[in-house]
Amino acid sequence: MTTAPAALTNTHPALRRCWHPVARSAEVADRPVRTMLLGEPWVLARLGPGGAVQAFPDRCPHRLAPLSIGSVGSAPDGTTVLRCAYHGWCFDAAGRCVELPALGPGATIPPKARLAPAHAVVERHGMVFLAPTAPLAQCATLPAIPEADDPSFTAGDLPPMRARAGAGFLADNFLDMGHFPFVHAATFGAEDPVVPPLSVSRDGLSFTAQSEHDFCNREDPAVAAGTRPLVQRRRVTYRVHAPFHLVLRLDFLDAGGTNVIGFFLQPETDDSCRVYSTIWRDDLGHDPTRMEGAVAFEVRVVQEDLDLQDHFDVHALPLDPTAEVHTRADRSTLELRRMLADLVAAAAHG
Ligand code: FES
Ligand SMILES: [Fe+2]
Repeated sequence: MTTAPAALTNTHPALRRCWHPVARSAEVADRPVRTMLLGEPWVLARLGPGGAVQAFPDRCPHRLAPLSIGSVGSAPDGTTVLRCAYHGWCFDAAGRCVELPALGPGATIPPKARLAPAHAVVERHGMVFLAPTAPLAQCATLPAIPEADDPSFTAGDLPPMRARAGAGFLADNFLDMGHFPFVHAATFGAEDPVVPPLSVSRDGLSFTAQSEHDFCNREDPAVAAGTRPLVQRRRVTYRVHAPFHLVLRLDFLDAGGTNVIGFFLQPETDDSCRVYSTIWRDDLGHDPTRMEGAVAFEVRVVQEDLDLQDHFDVHALPLDPTAEVHTRADRSTLELRRMLADLVAAAAHG
């Protein structure tokens, strides 16, 4: 019999069986890029067909130099390679050493002179996602974000942010509605502190949490003009996929318009995460200036959350439900813990 782990750290081995964001696509250009994931350094480089990103542990097998200080170039046969900065060994997209300058051309290359690529790397929604080893069947594919492919929406990327925090707690924070009036008093915090009841539905290592409720729409110009009431209906839908792929959709049912916020977490080390967020809006008339304003506002909101998280002493998210006090206002965040506990159990059973 296996016992459930007490808590999920950012470097828990079960997280190796999942997809994680590791960079913005634009960050990986014509040079290798170092990125930390689950306590391990990786190097990303565009070595594959059409500039596809490949990932390897950031360590040359020769003398263990980080490959991320090397360069991307071409081997004599035209193959795109990652060249180590120390002695110039070159590796192709499959991790094979195809050039070893110290032995001269045509030399036999030792079979151990090779890199072990990540299980898989894909680019989605302007981010590079990496699966260190084969993902669990229940989270084998990255979830779709239908709004990202819907031409009525425009995307706005927030700059990646770093948090001294556990990814589990950051995900918890994203799902939590009870903190709005307290943490976000300076931005959108004029909310009713009562958390509306959420209906939660689980599907394997994913869940959705939804609520339709009244709220005060202070941003609606029609309220100021007196043509719509201040109290309006709003539908809130959270879509969560293990481990840390979270999307919040806000549908303004009276004023019209939909705001979608994606929140994707990279657990770097036990006390650090990189946070990627993108917003999709269908209510800004595709106006880049309005989108810039919306992104700047969202950065302030996320910063308010990260400033609070920065004070936490605990970074490992408890998976034992008795370790914290839960109320009915915490349904979605309790489901997050259950889902992550199931992830850990699934990884333990192969
Ligand atoms: S350490 Fe990389 S080539 Fe020697
Ligand atoms: Fe928040």
